[in-house]
Amino acid sequence: MKVRKAVITAAGWGTRFLPITKAHPKEMLPLVTKPLIQYSVEEAINSGIEQIVVITAQGKRAIEDYFDRSFELEHFLEQKGETNLLKEMRELSSLADICYIRQKEQLGLGHAILTAKGIVGKEPFAVLLPDDIIDSKVPVLKQMIEVYEQYKTSVVAVERIASQDTVKYGIIEPKKVSGHIYQVLSLIEKPKPAQAPSNLGVVGKYILTPQIFDALEVTPPGKNQEIQLTDALQLLLKQQTIYAYEFEGVRYDTGTPLGWLKATLAFALRHPDIGQELKEYLHQLI
Ligand code: UTP
Repeated sequence: MKVRKAVITAAGWGTRFLPITKAHPKEMLPLVTKPLIQYSVEEAINSGIEQIVVITAQGKRAIEDYFDRSFELEHFLEQKGETNLLKEMRELSSLADICYIRQKEQLGLGHAILTAKGIVGKEPFAVLLPDDIIDSKVPVLKQMIEVYEQYKTSVVAVERIASQDTVKYGIIEPKKVSGHIYQVLSLIEKPKPAQAPSNLGVVGKYILTPQIFDALEVTPPGKNQEIQLTDALQLLLKQQTIYAYEFEGVRYDTGTPLGWLKATLAFALRHPDIGQELKEYLHQLI
């Protein structure tokens, strides 16, 4: 069955970005001129996804407003003769078929995904965490869908991480299959370097089969008292083979101020309107 739906989880508190996230969704921080979440929406569309489910929470209304139509704004731009901007705003609101679910209590990533069970139904689906923005020729989700089509089972994206960073990721115990593909023998959430079975960390892109919902339903709270997707994947391993895909591309973790700044600089330096001037300014500054 084709992967048609993608779940984008955007209900977290964003504590690493406090205080701004007290009143502003992290997913709406700009990466040059577009908000972070738009990169995930565009990745999904460019990978052939037909419907996007965004998991939100209180204080995240700006996300819905952003992808919605604003007739007042369109009218204003029309009156001013701003035809290019008007076209851009209309394109933005018709980018994708997006629906929203509110996670009423922030009980973890696994719990957030479980709230999408009814909309996803009994088909394979993608999960994208908007923090992880990967710069690549072919969208990473598209690369992963190709792997899914080969094996017809769950696929997680992994990256080689520095060994002191295992405490920040779900880590897999891998068995090499070919090239960029590993079979996942086990997973552990945020282990200390000495307990980590490898330095392959799971990053925020997944293709999951609907059996993950059964696993999530019986997954008890784990690290930080949250229902962890990693723990549910470990349960799922009892029923199905899971593959890990070491993607091609450069990843930015925009969920931290430093990662966000690095991504902002990398993307802005390539921007046709501001890149050159920014480069000169940075030289001056240093
Ligand atoms: P994180 O663990 O990075 O949490 O969530 P966070 O809230 O985004 O950021 P910090 O760690 O507090 O700074 C991983 C993903 O899971 C989502 C987040 O929105 C993010 O996409 N999430 C997390 C939920 O949707 N609901 C939750 O209850 C927890």
